[in-house]
Amino acid sequence: MRFKKLYRRHLRYPLWRLRHPFTPYETYYAWVVTRKLKDGRGHPAIGPTARAARGQREMIDVLLRHGLQPHHTFVDYGCGSLRLGKPLVEFLECGRFWGLDLAQEFLDEGIRYIGSDLNHLKQPTLRVIDDAGLAAAKSARPDFIGAWHVCGKIPDHILDGFFRKVLGLMHVGTQVFLQFEDSGKREQLHGLAWSLPEETMIAAVKGIDPKLTVDIFQLSKRRHRNMRYLCAHIRY
Ligand SMILES: C[S@@+](CC[C@H](N)C(=O)[O-])C[C@H]1O[C@@H](n2cnc3c(N)ncnc32)[C@H](O)[C@@H]1O
Repeated sequence: MRFKKLYRRHLRYPLWRLRHPFTPYETYYAWVVTRKLKDGRGHPAIGPTARAARGQREMIDVLLRHGLQPHHTFVDYGCGSLRLGKPLVEFLECGRFWGLDLAQEFLDEGIRYIGSDLNHLKQPTLRVIDDAGLAAAKSARPDFIGAWHVCGKIPDHILDGFFRKVLGLMHVGTQVFLQFEDSGKREQLHGLAWSLPEETMIAAVKGIDPKLTVDIFQLSKRRHRNMRYLCAHIRY
């Protein structure tokens, strides 16, 4: 294993943890990505060099197939810099789009990406994920919640808390769509990413509320190194 890879997978987090013994893991994630952005090294998912793996419309197309309409309220959980959120900001009525993420820097990149005209016209609400941001998004009573390329960024020790926060935004009518990648086992894919087996996804959701229904469907028939590209559809 090359030293850089070894460092990113096995050393970077323990070394950071030594310096920040009481800081949540989410701060570490945000630190790694913002440092990359500030250094001018492009990030594949956030900021000016972001590209959508399977097209910018993947998330909106799933939501449209499940009944999304312009008057609905939608929360993009872990929205990054709105790489997949932009078509939703365009489609939804003014004030109906909510984007939540770990760092204000990512949300600022999102505003830059959609541009001031669209921002002014549709007035998306972009909030950092903290108690106030979560409470505000919940009180908007979302009809739909989506999280794309987010569940695979969650390590074991915060998995339960992550699902508690996302599913805590639901009311009885909310439909939630969580994109994830399953290689057949729980394994680290790179410094900040893990495969999430289908059974682990279902168990995590049911652990929050056994009354929730979880249906898993495939997003793409393409397979790379045996990886399945999946989505969990969660509702009451
Ligand atoms: C690969 S990016 C995807 C961003 C966006 N959903 C997209 O597809 O363009 C992963 C996003 O998940 C967010 N994220 C990582 N860990 C998170 C957590 N514990 N809770 C909420 N969001 C998280 C990151 O801040 C980042 O914006």
